[in-house]
Amino acid sequence: MNIAVFASGKGTNFQAIIKAVQKGKIKARLTLLVCDNPDAFAIKRAQKADIKVALVKRDDFVSRRDFENKITGYLKESKIELIVLAGFMRMFSPEFAREYKGRVINIHPSLLPSFKGIHGIKDAFDYGVKITGVTVHFVDEQMDHGEIISQAPVKIEERDTLQTLELKIHKLEHRLYPDVIRLFVEGKLSQTRQAYLPYLITKKDPSAPFGRSG
Ligand code: GAR
Repeated sequence: MNIAVFASGKGTNFQAIIKAVQKGKIKARLTLLVCDNPDAFAIKRAQKADIKVALVKRDDFVSRRDFENKITGYLKESKIELIVLAGFMRMFSPEFAREYKGRVINIHPSLLPSFKGIHGIKDAFDYGVKITGVTVHFVDEQMDHGEIISQAPVKIEERDTLQTLELKIHKLEHRLYPDVIRLFVEGKLSQTRQAYLPYLITKKDPSAPFGRSG
């Protein structure tokens, strides 16, 4: 299976996926990085891992459809079967969402439907929730929306700062996302909830968000 990752920024999730593919945990080809930001560090990560980069800037196109058609061209050329959004800060048109329905997944750093948008971690922290987390979901034309595939919780402790919370969330993302991608590649995910066993966090796992005492 050929996978494309879409990223606009640092690409730490992209890196976690690269690692999982290189280690053989995900048995697929990471064929393409689609990026809309020429300054994104994700591009350097792709180059280092010898992954083709499609840099497609929104400003270079009059309409969103033209922008998406350019992307679709790259996807077809590389015979992409799964699109993995990893910090790609754009929404798709209904046409794009329809064409790739069930083949686009996204990760978001909160327990959706709470705290959508680009500041999911900060918004949850500022609100004062006691539990937040990470969500992986199928993508539709709405922002941070679509059928939820998996969620994992993160407890916000009294001593947490925004920075420590960000660290916990990102660490969890880097475990959860490769796991979900592996399940997709192995054909164990579908649009039906019943087909997927939830991500389990056990007390025995010291790196689990709730720790040993969880
Ligand atoms: C991740 O935390 C991801 O959950 C978030 O962007 C970050 C990208 O980080 N996505 C969203 O907020 C989507 N609404 P990365 O570039 O280091 O992988």
